[in-house]
Amino acid sequence: MALNKASITGVHGYAPEYRLTNEELEKMVETSDEWISSRTGIKERRILKEPGKATSDMAVEAIKGLLKKTNTRPEEIELTICGTVTPDTTFPDTANTINQKIGATNAWGFDLSAACSGFLFALSTGARFIESGRYKKVLVVGADMMSSIVNYEDRTTCILFGDGAGAVMLEPSKDETGVQDEILKGDGVGRQYLILKAGGSLHPTSAETVANKEHYVFQDGRPVFKAAVKGMTNTVQEVMKRNNLTADDVTWLVPHQANRRILSAVADSLGFPMEKVMVNIHKYGNTTAATIPLCLWEWEEKLKKGDNLILTAFGGGFTWGATYLTWSYDGSKMPK
Ligand code: UT7
Repeated sequence: MALNKASITGVHGYAPEYRLTNEELEKMVETSDEWISSRTGIKERRILKEPGKATSDMAVEAIKGLLKKTNTRPEEIELTICGTVTPDTTFPDTANTINQKIGATNAWGFDLSAACSGFLFALSTGARFIESGRYKKVLVVGADMMSSIVNYEDRTTCILFGDGAGAVMLEPSKDETGVQDEILKGDGVGRQYLILKAGGSLHPTSAETVANKEHYVFQDGRPVFKAAVKGMTNTVQEVMKRNNLTADDVTWLVPHQANRRILSAVADSLGFPMEKVMVNIHKYGNTTAATIPLCLWEWEEKLKKGDNLILTAFGGGFTWGATYLTWSYDGSKMPK
């Protein structure tokens, strides 16, 4: 028996109100709008400032909008998968907190930790649950409050990251649209280049780890940059080849937003004009697991049933990959 395909039947996003601009960062660390803009393409990022709010609260805002526009009651949700590296608490997991906050009383859930590839890996996982035939409504979330793990005295990282969340609804496809294929990778060989060193079982929290600032994101940017361009380009190429797709057949390339120069390099080597590449890094910076659903949300109105999309991401681990999906509805007909 052929498997059900898993369709995205709605997408919604949330970005906190506060805008941390390059000009404000110039007052915090030795940097300049010129350096940040030319090296990364970022102009501002959103920061969750309200005391007592965390990753789950941003996810809940995105999901509330999603439930409304897809006309879904929270009790209908069966499973929530939350891609994040900034869970509200190490445990319980954020997906459970989300389920409680939205009233998804018939759902279970779990967090998926794959850094900037979190949404791509969560989408793959959610699609398998739908394809099995057992699940009919799965929430796939990408949400990160990067401001909770960024050192605002470190100019090499604090200029990059922002907070945000996005969520999609996955349901069995009524036709042949939906998630078609994917190539996902995680090799562990680059883990020293992009890491939060302490607070896990290897280096439990201590006065020393706090003094050494090991609870903040550490990144050695250059090797990550090189590996990101190579990893995303190769997996996109491979998934296109085995599905007989040329750049002309692909309506949108939806890359993880880490650096405008990475996006351009990937698009160039694949022969995609930038008009076919979703780019919103100037507004949000790198929101880790949230970048791809935030792009889909912003472009939803333009997306048409049958459009071919290639989603691609690269992140800490290293983790990376590319997913080929055909869009399942006309975004222009969706309520805002
Ligand atoms: O999302 C997960 C995956 N992450 C990524 O894909 C990020 C990949 N890496 C990058 O995007 C880039 O490597 C960065 C944006 C992080 C850095 O850009 P770069 O062009 O690779 O710069 P660099 O690290 O080679 O640094 C060049 C210079 C250095 O000074 P010296 O040694 O040449 O004197 C840095 O100290 O720029 C300096 N620098 C800065 N200057 C002003 C580093 N950060 C800043 C800053 N403002 N914020």
